[in-house]
Amino acid sequence: MTEKTPGNVNMEKITSLCRRRGFIFPSSEIYGGLSSCWDYGPLGVELKRNIKEAWWRAVVRERDDVVGLDTSILMHPQTWEASGHLQGFSDPLAECKSCHQRWRTDDLEGSSCPACGGELTEPQMFNLMFKTFMGPVEDTASTVYLRPETAQGIFVNFANVLDTTRKKLPLGIAQIGKSFRNEITTGNFIFRSREFEQMEIEYFVKPGSDEEWFNYWLEERRNWYLRLGIREENLRLRQHMKHELAHYARDCYDIDYLFPMGWAELEGIANRGDYDLTQHAKYSGKSLSYFNEDAKEHLVPCVIEPSAGVDRTFLAVLCDAYDEEPDGDEIRVLLHLHPELAPIKVAVLPLSRKENLAHVAQEVYAELRQCWTVSYDDAQSIGRRYRRQDEIGTPFCVTVDFASLEDRAVTIRERDTMNQIRVPMETLRTTLAAKLAGEALFTLPPGGKIWKEERKQTSS
Ligand code: GAP
Repeated sequence: MTEKTPGNVNMEKITSLCRRRGFIFPSSEIYGGLSSCWDYGPLGVELKRNIKEAWWRAVVRERDDVVGLDTSILMHPQTWEASGHLQGFSDPLAECKSCHQRWRTDDLEGSSCPACGGELTEPQMFNLMFKTFMGPVEDTASTVYLRPETAQGIFVNFANVLDTTRKKLPLGIAQIGKSFRNEITTGNFIFRSREFEQMEIEYFVKPGSDEEWFNYWLEERRNWYLRLGIREENLRLRQHMKHELAHYARDCYDIDYLFPMGWAELEGIANRGDYDLTQHAKYSGKSLSYFNEDAKEHLVPCVIEPSAGVDRTFLAVLCDAYDEEPDGDEIRVLLHLHPELAPIKVAVLPLSRKENLAHVAQEVYAELRQCWTVSYDDAQSIGRRYRRQDEIGTPFCVTVDFASLEDRAVTIRERDTMNQIRVPMETLRTTLAAKLAGEALFTLPPGGKIWKEERKQTSS
């Protein structure tokens, strides 16, 4: 991870915003937190759900060739022998003989402990899988692992999905779920944690067509991030060098994002060949081949695997959306979130708490929340309320004022431009639906007018 910090964002600003506004809290904070584990708060959970929903829509709902799956976190222990995780999913660690901290050898600069200068042991391989016990007796027969990736749940269900869906190749199986890794080097907020969520597709293809499909998925996945508003200059595709490739991978690219700490992996896209199905067939003794009707022969499909992290996408989306603008003597912090991702789509803001106004505003609120996640805010000045919504990326605010009581019209104010238009309450829902779906902002209704929210003047 090297290179420059993009724009005016840094990790401190992102973590502070997340804590302040309830996107993310340290896990079990009242007990002092738990290292590298995080809790998603009321706004965080909405943003996270929207990311997963956007992914599911793009890779499952809008396609004929991909189906979904949700497999258990605990799997038969032989799964991890077959996949190679028991033998190979390890980092070399050296332990300090004085303070007993363990260090990844590739993170060490000298030959002594970075914390206390103590002498280090010879490096030993340390498996990254979390172990636990199934059943009442803690013996080796009942050892199970928290899955370190969702992928294996897909491979072991390949035949089940094929039999029950009667699909032909190419066939993708997609899954979103939690994974666990006892990472040695954690940090950079939610970038690398010990419990995280993955969005993985295993795309099964006929051998020989794997390269073509590999290139297809590189393009498809990169475009997904662009469609969600991530800036092109902050994304890059990086091919793995030979020595970086996992033993089973024929080829692999990372989609990297330019995080504040530098370029780092957002998603990995690998051509895994037929390694996984072959291994599971061997260990389980069950056939995991596919009958190719055209050639009347059995074959073992190759697999293309686009594997993305929900939490890393969350972090990238926030970093990319973060912006600051001068606002008088203050700073307007705003998140330019894509409307599809914004945790709150619309905020309803009555100009005053007077009962007759609140009544109409509540009417508007009740109608809009049937369609979207909407918030209602009547505390403090309207300017402060706009800023609160800007900071969490709410694309539209709807202001109900005293004129609304007469003309049954309200003001829509747009986050990025701060433009405002007035629309009749009876068309509010359809107008907002069109705007949220990406209609050019503020195409004016006949006879309508646009005006700007007044900015504060600097005091000097
Ligand atoms: N099945 C392939 C696989 O798991 P990976 O590159 O190890 O590949 C895929 O992980 C994605 O999962 C990564 O690109 C990243 O987004 C996410 N990920 C992996 N380890 C993570 C961690 N410790 N914390 C957060 N996200 C992680």
